[in-house]
Amino acid sequence: MRILGIETSCDETGAAVVLDGRMVLSHALASSVAIHQKYGGVVPEQAAREQLKAIIPVTHETLITANLLSRPPAIDAIAVTIGPGLIGSLLVGIETAKTLAWIWDKPLIPVNHLLAHFYAAWLAPTPPQFPAVGLLVSGGHTDLILIENHGVWKYLGGTRDDAAGEAFDKIARLLGLPYPGGPALEQLAKLGDPKRVELPSPMYKSETLDFSFSGLKTAVIRLLAKERQPLDHGRKTAIAAAVQNAIVRVLVEKTLRAVLEYRPISLVVAGGVAANTFLKEQLRERTKQVPFKIHLFVPPPQLCTDNAVMIATCAYYLNTPLPFDTVHAIPNLSLRNG
Ligand code: KG4
Ligand code: ZN
Repeated sequence: MRILGIETSCDETGAAVVLDGRMVLSHALASSVAIHQKYGGVVPEQAAREQLKAIIPVTHETLITANLLSRPPAIDAIAVTIGPGLIGSLLVGIETAKTLAWIWDKPLIPVNHLLAHFYAAWLAPTPPQFPAVGLLVSGGHTDLILIENHGVWKYLGGTRDDAAGEAFDKIARLLGLPYPGGPALEQLAKLGDPKRVELPSPMYKSETLDFSFSGLKTAVIRLLAKERQPLDHGRKTAIAAAVQNAIVRVLVEKTLRAVLEYRPISLVVAGGVAANTFLKEQLRERTKQVPFKIHLFVPPPQLCTDNAVMIATCAYYLNTPLPFDTVHAIPNLSLRNG
């Protein structure tokens, strides 16, 4: 089954064709990140305008690369992100997908972007097995779920305020780093000694599987206010390393707590922050020490951040087409509300 996936939830415009949820026949991605960089964050209206320009060329390029030149193309369904995301951005993808589904007479499969992030792991040579604990760490979400089967999951916990990616981005901005802050902060952190700066790991000790990251941002604001002179490179790297440590420490601790409680066969980590090498290393170390066998899945970096491959893959496994007059954008869709 060949599925054309379309992703436009934030500042990327992605299209991909995936065969049987396993083989990527083609994928294309246009990003408007360079435009947002000068503002230090995504400007929603600008993102949607860029997506309007990019959606047809990106979809066209994907079909050509997959050698699907006939009209209608030899695909079996169209999958599209319906949320969460920016309303203007979501509408560009959804309206395009609906139009193509209608004129080509193809089923339309709506996809939850957050669930789809996990499906990047289903492209591994041997996919994850159920039950799986899933940690989603993206720009807007930090969630722990127990995935019992395709499309069946239990919500275990999540952030009460800022997401981990958001904390990386906001703190990176305080340090004068470019948007998106996660990758820039990671590079700086590699050069620093985290022990030179003391920062809190909020909710590290709390019994719940919830997270909180806004206190860390406040702690960095206070720390910077106390600095007597402009940050030199050495000080900046130490702060970056301490921030990364504080975030990763609590992510790993809560994830391992969920693993020990639910004893899954697989642990799947997904979303942009899963591209972070330190997080991966720490999870690898800690999962080795678990008293039962657990397989850790972290997709390659280009599949951790937003892309359309994960949308097509997720749609293959869920296989839940809907009549297109019932498919709408849901900007606040989450893993709590389905
Ligand atoms: O999943 P994603 O591409 O978009 C959303 O759906 O939100 O995640 C983007 C987030 C941003 O906050 C970005 O700073 C963060 O992922 N990120 C990273 C790294 N690469 C991307 N955070 C830490 N380390 C990285 N290497
Ligand atoms: Zn995402």
